[in-house]
Amino acid sequence: MVFPDIIIAIDGWSSTGKSSFAKLIASEFSFLYLDSGALYRAVTLFAMEKGFIAGDEIDEKSLKEELDKGLDLHFEYVDEGSRTFIADRCVEEEIRTLGVSNHVSPIAAIPFVRAFVDEKLHGFGRKGKVVMDGRDIGTAVFPDAQVKIFLTASPQIRAQRRFDELKMKGQDPKMEDVVKNLEERDYIDSHRETNPLRRAADAFVLDNSHMTIKEEVEWVRGLIQGKFGILE
Ligand code: CDP
Repeated sequence: MVFPDIIIAIDGWSSTGKSSFAKLIASEFSFLYLDSGALYRAVTLFAMEKGFIAGDEIDEKSLKEELDKGLDLHFEYVDEGSRTFIADRCVEEEIRTLGVSNHVSPIAAIPFVRAFVDEKLHGFGRKGKVVMDGRDIGTAVFPDAQVKIFLTASPQIRAQRRFDELKMKGQDPKMEDVVKNLEERDYIDSHRETNPLRRAADAFVLDNSHMTIKEEVEWVRGLIQGKFGILE
């Protein structure tokens, strides 16, 4: 099946498996995968390392000065996988820790941070045949995306998925901390003023609580075939 040059926007709650889904779509359909959350996570790691975050306080002025100078965030393909880089340093592992997860949503709620990340995403997305996941891709970053999907799953299943993922990476999370982090991020992500997490009116909702990732990809294949009248 030959796919048209389209943007597929995948939004949804934390730990609904957006990035695994988007990555598999990218490899099955030969699309470029862009993980917008990774950029918010990288800005957060950068702010933590610079000492701009102390408890609940964020030194927004210093962070803005650094972003205005032009922080080099980008993706590189290493071992066939997309990895997040700050300049020449791969930060893929560090940005996925619970420490970064605990600060990312307040950082992502800051309007100048969102503007900074949006500009990068627009640059990366210009070429078409892109699948991008996040919270506001179908509503704000690419409102004209031809295919929009909003992923959801039950809170228990989401917490278990995140717990298993952290364990697999050799971390030792407590289930109660994982649940707390998901609840806090859900709340901040859906209540912030600038581009909160919302389902776009024209997004298809997929509850993947009881689906395998292969079934999800078949579902989206059917969706695209139907929408673009592709017969094979
Ligand atoms: O993997 P998970 O879905 O838990 O999160 P992520 O996609 O890595 O995103 C981390 C955080 O970045 C989210 O909780 C949001 O606060 C923020 N984010 C956002 O505000 N807008 C996006 N387009 C993507 C992520």
